[in-house]
Amino acid sequence: MMSSILGFLFFFLILTERSQTSDIQLPSSADDSINGNEIKTYIIHLTKPEGRKFLSEEELESWHKSFLPNMTLDSGEQRLIYSYSEVMTGFAAKLTPHEVQAMQHLDGFLHAELDIQHEPETTYTPKYLGLSDPTNGIWHTESNMGEGIIIGVIDSGIPSNHPSFSDVQMPAKPTNWNGSCNFTNFSCNNKIIGGVMYSGGTKKTTPPVDTGGHGSHVASIAAGNFVKDAMVVGNFNYTASGMAPRAHLAIYKVPENRTDTLKAFDQSIIDQVNIINYSSGADPDDTFYTDTAAFSGYKAVRKGIAVSVSAGNRGNPESLSHSAPWLTVVGASWPDRRLAAEVRLGNGDQFIGETGFYQPTKFNSSFQFPIEYPGANDEAKTKGCWKGSLNGIDVKDKIVLCWSGKGNIDKGRVVLAAGGAAMILMGSLVNTRNDHHVLPVSHVITADARKIIDYYNSPGGSNPTATLIFKGQTSGRRPAPAIAPTSSRGPSRTNGGILKPDVIAPGYEILGASPKKGGPFNNYFEYKMLNSPLIIYF
Ligand SMILES: *[C@@H]1O[C@H](CO)[C@@H](O)[C@H](O)[C@H]1NC(C)=O
Ligand SMILES: *[C@@H]1O[C@H](CO)[C@@H](O)[C@H](O)[C@H]1NC(C)=O
Ligand SMILES: *[C@@H]1O[C@H](CO)[C@@H](O)[C@H](O)[C@H]1NC(C)=O
Ligand SMILES: *[C@@H]1O[C@H](CO)[C@@H](O)[C@H](O)[C@H]1NC(C)=O
Ligand SMILES: *[C@@H]1O[C@H](CO)[C@@H](O)[C@H](O)[C@H]1NC(C)=O
Ligand SMILES: *[C@@H]1O[C@H](CO)[C@@H](O)[C@H](O)[C@H]1NC(C)=O
Ligand SMILES: *[C@@H]1O[C@H](CO)[C@@H](O)[C@H](O)[C@H]1NC(C)=O
Ligand SMILES: *[C@@H]1O[C@H](CO)[C@@H](O)[C@H](O)[C@H]1NC(C)=O
Repeated sequence: MMSSILGFLFFFLILTERSQTSDIQLPSSADDSINGNEIKTYIIHLTKPEGRKFLSEEELESWHKSFLPNMTLDSGEQRLIYSYSEVMTGFAAKLTPHEVQAMQHLDGFLHAELDIQHEPETTYTPKYLGLSDPTNGIWHTESNMGEGIIIGVIDSGIPSNHPSFSDVQMPAKPTNWNGSCNFTNFSCNNKIIGGVMYSGGTKKTTPPVDTGGHGSHVASIAAGNFVKDAMVVGNFNYTASGMAPRAHLAIYKVPENRTDTLKAFDQSIIDQVNIINYSSGADPDDTFYTDTAAFSGYKAVRKGIAVSVSAGNRGNPESLSHSAPWLTVVGASWPDRRLAAEVRLGNGDQFIGETGFYQPTKFNSSFQFPIEYPGANDEAKTKGCWKGSLNGIDVKDKIVLCWSGKGNIDKGRVVLAAGGAAMILMGSLVNTRNDHHVLPVSHVITADARKIIDYYNSPGGSNPTATLIFKGQTSGRRPAPAIAPTSSRGPSRTNGGILKPDVIAPGYEILGASPKKGGPFNNYFEYKMLNSPLIIYF
């Protein structure tokens, strides 16, 4: 049943794809806004020749080359960029619009598209989900923690020597693994069983090392090994792991374009991964053939590979990044955890704020500090505690109220330089929990901020004071789980009314591996909002 639905959909896909052929911008005699001789990267879709089987890579490549006017550009560069064998019938090449136009008349040509650039989307969870005991219970007995499974992560790579990717207690790699790992400075093990990087149209000899951080997060949350002392928030230690800590990882680093991403999908199918994880964005208006994950994922799913993709971080209705029926689309929720930093006012009122990494042990929470609100004059600069805005305002040894926004850490620096004791950041908490603050901070929601300012304006006959109480990790936030404000929502604009996302999973308040040691504790983890770990049941 399912396969006939998929079959029908793919038929539909091919039909629509055919009708797209004419959409590609080709120069006509009447239109000289397009330079017909400009060399661009095209992805050329072909129809599979009836009855013909390509026995080797070389044979396939030479068929693809037969569509090209010649093998090299004037510059000497090869025209053919990638031959795809699994993910589609076709190839990527450097061509001019005129040359593509000429190619359209060749037998087997289906459709040409220009290369595009993709954007990345931007510990406690097992316990919260009732999976806390790694030796017992459903996590161990039913899911096996991913043992024997290979997850292919198509993203920005991983750090080469992070404790999350050690192979302590990892079983040997599955015998069906068909990929490779061949680098000087990046050694694979039983956790990381393969790695490759495609960039700028070539397979690189450099290892798939992450610098940006996105790929490290995704890989560690899916399949990071157990790491003790992962988060050190002041004096709190936690053990971190991915949701499938015994699964193997194959890392496909694709920093840039569709041509490269298609190649990564292609290779992961050849390598025989079991699951593909692709947490990269796409336009909500993308159709099944323009969304790389939908397009490539179809072929992967037909080969028995599960494809898991992120719903996106747009927050609005009809904003899904991916919505093809054959993909598992994952939205983000809040768990009930937070890293609490309570604000206690002089009048006894309490507000539960949050803070990322900085949970100082020496802060005197019994002492009521005077509060200062530089923004009481209603100027944007002082409200935001921008650089230079505290000149002439006495904040020495006080707790300073600042509205959050861009550069929250810098606001802290300004307050600290002016002699402030601590800062209460006010307003949207999104994206701020992993801030490596330079002084004690509590971040409160807007509704609480208004109450704190009301108290500041009329402290009931005394001077306004407050203190901060750092509580480390606390549970019990309500409601939880709740869909996160920035998780993309359905309905899909393009899938004809099929419900998506398929699942939501804790995607905020999640600890993920970081390629850099960060924060005051020089730790290899980041506490980050992220889109989002799916629990894998087998
Ligand atoms: C290939 O074709 C292009 C465009 O026709 C031409 O400019 C180039 O010189 C050719 N290269 C070779 C090696 O013949
Ligand atoms: C490993 O990489 C080196 C250098 O890039 C290359 O010469 C060699 O052929 C590769 N070996 C395999 C088995 O792919
Ligand atoms: C390997 O790492 C060392 C030290 O970081 C560096 O000097 C060297 O250039 C690297 N080699 C390669 C092939 O990346
Ligand atoms: C990626 O594609 C864009 C066009 O969308 C192009 O301008 C850029 O040069 C490509 N990048 C690489 C590395 O090929
Ligand atoms: C946290 O871990 C470190 C290193 O293992 C240890 O020295 C310290 O005592 C631990 N702290 C707590 C509160 O358990
Ligand atoms: C394994 O990889 C080789 C190329 O490296 C490929 O020719 C072969 O088809 C792959 N095996 C499977 C089962 O995909
Ligand atoms: C903390 O503040 C309380 C209340 O003012 C004071 O009694 C106590 O001595 C302070 N502790 C330290 C270590 O300064
Ligand atoms: C892939 O990783 C992302 C986290 O970045 C998560 O949303 C998704 O659930 C993961 N999928 C699988 C199958 O691990």
